[in-house]
Formats: sequence, C-alpha cells, structure tokens
Amino acid sequence: MKRSVLLSVNGERREVFIKPNSTLLEVLRDELLLTGAKEACGSGECGACTVLVDGKPVNSCITLAMEAEGKAIETIEGLSKEGKLHPLQEAFIDHHAFQCGFCTPGMIMSAKAFLKRSPEPTKEEIRNAISGNICRCTGYENAVDAILDTAVGTEK
Ligand code: FES
Ligand code: FES
Repeated sequence: MKRSVLLSVNGERREVFIKPNSTLLEVLRDELLLTGAKEACGSGECGACTVLVDGKPVNSCITLAMEAEGKAIETIEGLSKEGKLHPLQEAFIDHHAFQCGFCTPGMIMSAKAFLKRSPEPTKEEIRNAISGNICRCTGYENAVDAILDTAVGTEK
C-alpha cells in the first residue's frame, strides 16, 4: 500500500505517494522526474545512481526512499544555480571528462561530497573517492584532473 512521504530534494519539500519498497532512484526518476541519477547495474555496484543524502554519497538504487525521509537529498539537478553550472560541472566540460556521460552525474556527486571533506586532495585520493563510480568510456584521468582543478580555490 502506498503512503505519503515528505522528501527534501535540492532544498525543496516534495510530497510523494510511494510503496514502502520504492527505491530512492525510482522515486527521483519516476515520481519527481529528476532523471540525472541513472540506473545501470541496479545493485549498488556501479555508482551511476549516486546522489547525496545528508551530504554523503549513496547508491540510490539500493536505498529505500522512505529511509531518506527527513534528510537532505541532493541530486545533480540541484548543482547549477541561476543558470550557472557548478564548478565541478564546468571542470568536467573543460577537461573533456566524459564521453557518453552516463556515469557523470554520479561521479560529480561523489566528487562534490569528497571535496567538501577533503578540500586539498591528491590525485590518488581523488581516484579512491570515485572508485565506486564505474565509467566504461574514459580512462578516468580527465575526471581526476577536473576534480583536482575544482579543488583549487573554487566554491564546493
Ligand atoms: S545503478 Fe545504482 S549502483 Fe549501479
Ligand atoms: S562517460 Fe560513458 S560511462 Fe562514463
């Protein structure tokens, strides 16, 4: 049976009527039409569905939406402000850090959380931070460079 759940998504309160076993990814994509987080493996292995919950990256494909009630959910759609991309998004473009882009929203969300707790990272630390975000197209190096560039003197 469906029930009402109040979610905070990108700073907005959103009420949804969902089944107890609805995943956060299903609710974001199908109910709220926020399709930035992607479903690839659907089993917590690839990171394509990564969003932030209270600032921490989670695989939304294996997180129940009800678990996120009362917590701050951030998705890639919340990063740009007043038509201006987030510095990480700009850096990914500048560094040609994606090809098909399927992994990119999840990787950027992981990077955002990481830079918040490690504002001056090494390349090795960045590689570790995005190790849960699988990319089938690139060699990761451009993404690592983009994250490193963002770390230097920009808003997180
Ligand atoms: S789709 Fe969620 S981890 Fe792969
Ligand atoms: S850019 Fe295609 S999966 Fe990463």
